[in-house]
Amino acid sequence: MSQTNREQLKVVSERAVLAGVNLPGCFIDSVDRFAELRALTETAGASIVGEILQRMRRPRGATFFGKGKVAELSDLCEMTNATLVIFDHDLTPAQIRNLEQDTNCKIIDRSELILDIFANRASTAMAKLQVEIAQLEYTYPRLRAMWDHLGQVTGGSPVGIGTRGPGEQQIEIDRRLVKRRLSQLRDELVEIQGRKSREVSQRNTDHFTVGLVGYTNAGKSTLFNKATTGGAFSHDKLFATLATRIERWDLGGGNHVMLSDTVGFIRDLPHRLVASFRSTLEETVHSQLLLIMLDASDRNAPMQLQTVGKTLNEIGAADQPRILVLNKLDLVRDQTVLEQLRAMAKDRMVEVFEVSAVTGQGIDALKARVLTEMKGELREIALEVPLVDSRTVNFLERRTEVLERDYETSTVVMRVRIGKRQMDQVLALCHQLRIDGQEPHQLVRKLWPHIGEIDDEKNSGFTQGFKPLQ
Ligand code: GTP
Repeated sequence: MSQTNREQLKVVSERAVLAGVNLPGCFIDSVDRFAELRALTETAGASIVGEILQRMRRPRGATFFGKGKVAELSDLCEMTNATLVIFDHDLTPAQIRNLEQDTNCKIIDRSELILDIFANRASTAMAKLQVEIAQLEYTYPRLRAMWDHLGQVTGGSPVGIGTRGPGEQQIEIDRRLVKRRLSQLRDELVEIQGRKSREVSQRNTDHFTVGLVGYTNAGKSTLFNKATTGGAFSHDKLFATLATRIERWDLGGGNHVMLSDTVGFIRDLPHRLVASFRSTLEETVHSQLLLIMLDASDRNAPMQLQTVGKTLNEIGAADQPRILVLNKLDLVRDQTVLEQLRAMAKDRMVEVFEVSAVTGQGIDALKARVLTEMKGELREIALEVPLVDSRTVNFLERRTEVLERDYETSTVVMRVRIGKRQMDQVLALCHQLRIDGQEPHQLVRKLWPHIGEIDDEKNSGFTQGFKPLQ
C-alpha cells in the first residue's frame, strides 16, 4: 500500500518528475514536448528533477503509461528523490491510485496543476470563488475520502483531497458537504455575476471597450501597462493575471477607449475552470473590439491561436470583432512561425498587427487602427431626441462631436459627427429618435449602405469580413 499523501495538492517546493504520452496525431511541440508543462510546473513553484515520455497508440486504462514505462517511472522517481509526478494529461482517479502505489510518489494531472496555480494566484473575491468552485467540481467525482477536506468545507483546517480509507459511509457524508458548499458558492457567484454584467453593459454604453485576450504569457499585461498608466501585473510566469483589469487607453485628440486585460488561455484548460471563469472572461470578451495577442516568437503560436479561437467559441464570443496582435517581434528569429500566423489570419480574414510590447514597435500603428475602429465611418447628421431622454443626450454629448444644438419645445435637434458604431448604440438607446426629420433605420441604411441591418447590438459593421477563429 502506498504511503503517498494527496491531502496537500500544493505543488510548491516539491521535487517533480514530468510525465507525458505522445499519441498519434499529437500536435504538441515535438521538439520540446515538455516546454509548456515545465513552465506550468515552475509557475506552481516546484523544481523539476526528471522527465519521462512514452509514445503509444492509446493510453493504458489502469496506469495511463504502459507496464514497462511505469517501472521506468518508478526507478526515475527513486533515483531523483522525487516527491511528485505531474502528468501532462487528465487522469482518472483509478489511474492516480495505481500510479501512486507503483511509484510511491504523489501523482497529479494537468488539470490539478492548473487549478493549483489558479488557487495560488486568485486574489479577488470573485477569482477565489471561481477557483474554489472549479476545485470542488473537479474533486467531487474523484472523492475517495476527505477527512481533512471536511475541515475546509465546514470552515476549519485547510485542504485535503483524496486520502483513501475510511469507507463508503464517510464518502457519502463528504459528498453531501461538497454539494452543499458548491451550491452556496454558486449562489454567491450568480450574485456577483449579475452585478458584473450590469457594470459591463454600462461600460459599453459609456465608452468604447477593447479587450486583450490570448494565450498565457503572450504579453497582454505588458501591452496593457504600456498603453495605460499601468497597474497590471506582468511577470514571466503563466497566469500572472487572474482577474480582469480595466483602464483608460488614450488614443490622442481627446479620444480614449477602455482597455481590459484578463486571464490567459491555455490548451486543455480544465472545462470546469473555463465555466467558472466565464464571468471574468466575459468582462473582456464582451468588449466591442478584441485584440487577440500571441507570442510570435513561440513555435507553438499557431496551436495557441487555435486554442484561443476554441476558448472564445466556448464562452460565446465567436462573433466578436477582432484584430490579431503578434507580439514579441523583437524576439522573432525564425520567420516561419510569423508567416504561418499571417497565413492563418488571412484565411480567417482577420487583420494582423505585428508589435513588440517591450520596445514599443508597432504600437502606434495599432493605436491608430483602434482609433479608426472606435470612430467607425463618420457621417454628419441631425438627430432629434426627446428632451426627457437624458441618457441619449448625454451619450451624444460625450461620445460624438456635437456641431449644433437646436432646442424645440420637447426635443433637441443635435447636429453631430457620428460613427456607425455610435449610431448603433444611439438606436439601441433611443426608440423615439428621428434623423433629419425621418424614421431612422431606413436612413441609417442609406448612410452606411454596406453595413446592412442596424437594429441589433451585434451588428456593428466590425463583424463584416471577420470570421470566427476555429
Ligand atoms: P498571463 O498573465 O499569463 O496571461 O500573461 P500575459 O499575456 O499577461 O504576459 P505578460 O505581459 O505577463 O508577459 C509575459 C512575459 O513576456 C514577461 O516577462 C514580459 O516581460 C515578456 N514580454 C511581453 N511582451 C514582450 C515583448 O514584446 N518582447 C519581449 N522580449 N518580451 C515580452
